Amino acid sequence: MVEFAGELEEALGESGPVGATVRQLATRLDRPPDHIEAALSRLARTGAVRRMGRGLYVLRDFERLDERPDFVDPVAYVERFERESGVRLGRIQGPITFRSNEALPVHRWWPYVQGYSADFVRGIVETADLPRGARVLDPFAGSGTTLVEARRAGAEALGTELLAPAVLAARVKTRFDLPVGRLERAAARAVDSARSRTPGALPFLRETRRQFSSTVLDDLTRLRDALPAGGRPVPDALRLAFGRILIPSSRLHRSPCLGYGRSRSGQEIPVAERFLAAVREMATDLAELQRHRALWGPPANVREEDARTAVWPAGSVDLAITSPPYVNGMDYVMNYKVDLAWLGYARSYRDLASLRSAQVACDNLPRAETVSYRHVVATPDPWLDEILPRIRANVERKGSYRRDDVHAVVHRYFSDLAQVLRRVRDALRPGSRFVLVVGDSLLAGTYVPGDLLTARLAESAGYRIVSVDVARSRRSGQRRSFVLRESVVTLERSRA
Ligand SMILES: C[S@@+](CC[C@H](N)C(=O)[O-])C[C@H]1O[C@@H](n2cnc3c(N)ncnc32)[C@H](O)[C@@H]1O
Repeated sequence: MVEFAGELEEALGESGPVGATVRQLATRLDRPPDHIEAALSRLARTGAVRRMGRGLYVLRDFERLDERPDFVDPVAYVERFERESGVRLGRIQGPITFRSNEALPVHRWWPYVQGYSADFVRGIVETADLPRGARVLDPFAGSGTTLVEARRAGAEALGTELLAPAVLAARVKTRFDLPVGRLERAAARAVDSARSRTPGALPFLRETRRQFSSTVLDDLTRLRDALPAGGRPVPDALRLAFGRILIPSSRLHRSPCLGYGRSRSGQEIPVAERFLAAVREMATDLAELQRHRALWGPPANVREEDARTAVWPAGSVDLAITSPPYVNGMDYVMNYKVDLAWLGYARSYRDLASLRSAQVACDNLPRAETVSYRHVVATPDPWLDEILPRIRANVERKGSYRRDDVHAVVHRYFSDLAQVLRRVRDALRPGSRFVLVVGDSLLAGTYVPGDLLTARLAESAGYRIVSVDVARSRRSGQRRSFVLRESVVTLERSRA
């Protein structure tokens, strides 16, 4: 019998349906984390507590969220949405995630776990049956999946994106006329020059020595210092190839969050070999792409800019397609800090923090950024007037949540999204479509129907909801047993 089992159960009980992690309980009870962990494992074996995923524990009484009187489940929201909007949820088949792009020419140049499927985008572009030179916009362009497919189909591709390595990827991937011979020669020169250099300075990230072996670090710094300065097509492509080999050369993995994986010692592929292989892949894809030059649209316009404030010529865009960050989801800056640091886009932790502030709200948003969203007033949708207080109450009930302003992060997220919906509306020609891939979330024991809220916000912003189709289901990170979905929301800019 664990001497503090009663205390532990009481602390877990206070955290209610939101649950608590070992670290939170250790702080709360002022005991070492390994004691807490051992005690929890014991209680889990007797069935008194349950482990819910990502190290989260809840008391058995709180295991089922839907047994709580204040829990509104996904089905209730769908019924309400269908009643209020008159739109019934449908289903679509086919791949939606980036995984399906990993072997595809051009898309494979920079695997972006947060990206979506090129086939999905191609299907939408083809269905839209656009005239040549029509404009296709992606406000959250990421690694440029939309932009590549749009240009390949003859459209003028426009996009905004804030994460510098993704901007680099989108720009390089849409420069279809990159001279293949020059690219290969420049890569060979960089590798040659790297050989005769001494190892250079490490990036500012404190854990760099833990992330890479010392041999790899020497080779990476030499190659980085041998690369020609970016800002021009061939050097940019070399920098993208360098960025691409960072994680595979490290002890890290991204699946989808950045974390330490298996040690790769003993099977390390030399840095130069990886780099040249990445460039060869680009050259192969470009040679094939350049055989279809006559079909391409005009050069793409990828702006490193905030989608919330970006202005495009009014009524000039024929189709918009995007996948926004998800509510309280991925911290892109944290997840791509290695790329940001090695490619010189961030030179300090302060730089990382300011990049994060400009992103559409995520879980790690600095607290100063949520101050004006703490009050549940003037929310962009009446559903949020109900959801936000529930999140706040759950966090308060628990007492020791990672941050006490989760409801404010969610509030800001939807305000950000509403702003982008309005920007894109203004850019679209009346009657043209905006297609978004959006997911729902479970936050602090509260269900947040992100897809339905997006459709509702759009309706208030002057769109007609054409359809909401569920594309796949996924598991909540907070509770593996809770099934979430990812939907395609199709909107049309009203003609009026
Ligand atoms: C789901 S990803 C898009 C991925 C993209 N569809 C692809 O296939 O690569 C969302 C993107 O939005 C970007 N983002 C977040 N806030 C932004 C903002 N305020 N303005 C522009 N881009 C932003 C993130 O950096 C991220 O790359």
